[in-house]
Amino acid sequence: MNVAILGVGVVGEQVAKILVQNAELIKARSGKEIRPVIGVVRNLDKKRDVSIPLTTDIDAVLARDDIDVFIELMGGVDEPYRVVSEILKRKKAIVTANKALLAYHRYELEKIASTTPFGFEASVAGGIPIIKTLREGLSANHIFGIEGIMNGTSNYILTSMMRGGASFSDALKKAQELGYAEADPTFDIGGFDAAHKLLILASIAYGVNLKPEQILIEGIDRINKADIFFANDFDYTIKLLGIAKRGENSVELRVHPTLVPKDKMIAKVDGVMNAISVKGDAVGETMFYGAGAGGAATASAVISDLIDIARGVNPPMLGYKSPLKPLTLLNSDEIKTKYYLRLSVDDRLGVLAKITNLMSENSLSIDSFLQKPRQNLEQNEPATLFFTTHLSREADVKRVINLLKTQDFIKEEPFMLRIED
Ligand SMILES: NC(=O)c1ccc[n+]([C@@H]2O[C@H](COP(=O)([O-])OP(=O)(O)OC[C@H]3O[C@@H](n4cnc5c(N)ncnc54)[C@H](OP(=O)(O)O)[C@@H]3O)[C@@H](O)[C@H]2O)c1
Repeated sequence: MNVAILGVGVVGEQVAKILVQNAELIKARSGKEIRPVIGVVRNLDKKRDVSIPLTTDIDAVLARDDIDVFIELMGGVDEPYRVVSEILKRKKAIVTANKALLAYHRYELEKIASTTPFGFEASVAGGIPIIKTLREGLSANHIFGIEGIMNGTSNYILTSMMRGGASFSDALKKAQELGYAEADPTFDIGGFDAAHKLLILASIAYGVNLKPEQILIEGIDRINKADIFFANDFDYTIKLLGIAKRGENSVELRVHPTLVPKDKMIAKVDGVMNAISVKGDAVGETMFYGAGAGGAATASAVISDLIDIARGVNPPMLGYKSPLKPLTLLNSDEIKTKYYLRLSVDDRLGVLAKITNLMSENSLSIDSFLQKPRQNLEQNEPATLFFTTHLSREADVKRVINLLKTQDFIKEEPFMLRIED
């Protein structure tokens, strides 16, 4: 089986190497020799540690009849969509690690692919075989929920803040120095990368066709040392979670920083590691842990797709042979969870009473309250107050925040986190 590697960067280079290094094992497992025969790049002058011939002429490679499977590892959305569509129209198999492409175009590509094999195990959580798990291993189950740490960069930053006491900007700088974060980190810290992965999983779990712009996405950039102080004091940790929850006729999809009790399994997943927990009606709770990125871990998933194709294993791309009764997306105002509020206020008599009145008039029931001791007791230094609520409706929390913003005693934009016990 001849394969072309479109994009020989961090992942593509490892795919080319492992296919050669583990050739004997891969042949024994797949029943075929899987040969990387050509790689496509933009710049032929870059030094790369691969033995395959390279070219910049992608269209010439797409036209070759001797290629059985094309591996798309270029990144981006528009050019990969053009390239992958063209390959599928020629009934050639595709393997990709490109979550952005799938977050936007998975249903169009599924339609074009029809029964042509389309592997994308590497697109979610790198080395964790979560696509196969949901599509094959747990296919007998109604999926009640998915909860996951799906972005290693954000998890590294949050871990440094929680454990090492780093500020957000110092933790981000260190992540960039170590190569965990891009020069422009927006995609990771803004929650968008995690949202792409959540949408791919939600398609397999629930058959829902949604784009990133339609779901709730919040990043980690407003978390500060006061939030870390509160979390530690109340035995929580803060994680950027991708969450899917199934209701009767709807599904809730959201990505945001979340307060998680420290004794929960997912709270113990630190650094750049990923973990995804899936709850099914028959299986109960399951949890999967592993490297969410990195050339070799991602290549492991890419090659597992190649082996499936060589074996003739070809499940329906998004997991369904016929459509399910569609679920609607729950409006984010209707989310019900517990909430945390951080308020910076004038430290004067009557302020606390005003806040608690405002909350109770708007159906927010307070579960706990804490005032952060001030560092220096200068006049006019604002006080930091923390509240957590009992189970509440997101619309009520938003209303309270909007009302608080209009009060003269509020010194900076109120900050809210959701709590998942
Ligand atoms: N890195 C990870 O840990 C990881 C994990 C999971 C998923 N992924 C996904 O895997 C894909 C590849 O990621 P990566 O980290 O390997 O990216 P990368 O290091 O930037 O490599 C991209 C490769 O594609 C080539 N390329 C880009 N646009 C091209 C074009 N228009 N025509 C020809 N070649 C082109 C580049 O050529 P030059 O080298 O000449 O510039 C480079 O070789 C992305 O979709 C990413 O989201 C990555």
